[in-house]
Amino acid sequence: MSIKNICCIGAGYVGGPTMAIIAQQCPHIKVTVVDLNEKRIADWNDDNLDNLPVFEPGLDAIVKEARGRNLFFSTEVDKAIDEAEMIFISVNTPTKTYGKGKGMAADLKYIELCARQIARVSKQNKIVVEKSTLPVRTASAIKSILDHTGNDVKFEILSNPEFLAEGTAVTDLLKPDRVLIGGDTTPEGDMAAKALVDIYANWVPKERILTTNVWSSELSKLTANAFLAQRVSSINAMSEICEETGADVNEVSKAIGMDSRIGSKFLKASVGFGGSCFQKDIFNLVYIAKSYGLNEVADYWEQVILMNEYQKERFTNKLITTLYNTVSDKKITFFGWAFKKDTNDTRESAAIKVADNLLNEQAKISVYDPKVKVNQIYADLDYLKTRTSAENKALLTVESDPYVACENSHSIAILTEWDEFKTYDWQKIYDHMLKPAVVFDGRSLLERKKLEEIGFIYYSIGSGITGN
Ligand code: UDX
Ligand code: ADP
Repeated sequence: MSIKNICCIGAGYVGGPTMAIIAQQCPHIKVTVVDLNEKRIADWNDDNLDNLPVFEPGLDAIVKEARGRNLFFSTEVDKAIDEAEMIFISVNTPTKTYGKGKGMAADLKYIELCARQIARVSKQNKIVVEKSTLPVRTASAIKSILDHTGNDVKFEILSNPEFLAEGTAVTDLLKPDRVLIGGDTTPEGDMAAKALVDIYANWVPKERILTTNVWSSELSKLTANAFLAQRVSSINAMSEICEETGADVNEVSKAIGMDSRIGSKFLKASVGFGGSCFQKDIFNLVYIAKSYGLNEVADYWEQVILMNEYQKERFTNKLITTLYNTVSDKKITFFGWAFKKDTNDTRESAAIKVADNLLNEQAKISVYDPKVKVNQIYADLDYLKTRTSAENKALLTVESDPYVACENSHSIAILTEWDEFKTYDWQKIYDHMLKPAVVFDGRSLLERKKLEEIGFIYYSIGSGITGN
């Protein structure tokens, strides 16, 4: 079966870039990305490519090439479902904020809504591909909804987890380490999986396309993210030992990373991992383990999250202690709000937690981030419901000029590793700050020697503070 028409439900960080690449690489396939959010769709269709709702290096050029040719963004969900032979579900699956599994299980209501909509609209057989990160066995839930619709339509469900990392989505999609496709081990399941393999085979070498059963595919996604997050929490645990003992975590990372059994990636100590996947996926894993009564397994993975929370607290506390145990009414500048560089995504960003902690201590915060919009920063804080919206606006300001953000500031906290921070005129920044001027580097981004020569007190995660 050769697919000519694809629909993707959900025009977010996963759906948008993934479909743009499929459309670019497969000009013979019509790709329609739909979303309920009209503003989002309008932004994807904006002639000014700076307004695309997702910032990813290189994505604008790809959208420019394919949009209007075989890539379309639309709010007509039913029409796109009806026309497509293959439907990708890329809607969000946040952690539940209510009821059973609150704070831990994935909220599948958007997925279920999609499944019901597909069931209602479909008049011909379809292949449904789950692309969102989902807890294991979601495919069977989708299948059960689709199979009980009453119309005589057959659905094949595939799991095709997304391994792209934000900030590098375009290269990750163009040159994936592997593409994983999980399907039913029936002749129909095999045919559906083959149809999806054929799409990826347009640009991905066949040996990198793995087919597995559905549950292995779903669990592999959670496992990959749990292992990656575990590495970050492990090196973050070592960062505190380094600070206490005088070792330097960057040197330790380099030394252990050269061991080919360990490898060099994901060993960068930081103020804590963020992003839409790590915490959510580990919570899923913990929830699944607990639901099978595997409490030791659940505790093991939960510790990765606890370590991450601790790292954010530790960073805040160290900052407060260094500023003579009080930050009340002191101006603290945040460089970076996104959860990592090269993205405008802020979900679970460490900056949010650190800001919330400092605002509770009555600090005044001034934020500069090259890509995150003002409204997003306030929305992130308001979501915590620690203070009213008006209080957040009074305590935290957002600047579009990094030098203005630092004026009369007591301390600068680096929360995101944006490359441009390294290129700033740090002497000029120092000259306009209150003294002693302290830089708190949560990403070990800057050069200690250079900053100390200028006169800064410099703290970096895992290598401690000037004078210790
Ligand atoms: C992750 C997975 O990498 C990707 O495969 C999956 O599809 C989605 O989840 P993403 O969340 O976009 O991708 O970013 P990632 O690069 O994994 O970084 C996650 C967090 O860990 C960021 O906050 C990052 O700053 C932090 N991190 C990463 C570290 O603190 N140290 C490291 O060494 C690596
Ligand atoms: P992700 O990082 O998984 O891509 P996002 O939140 O960036 O998550 O994107 C998910 C998108 O899915 C949102 O734009 C949201 O409006 C959209 N969405 C959620 N439910 C539906 C639905 N039933 N139909 C269409 N779009 C939906």
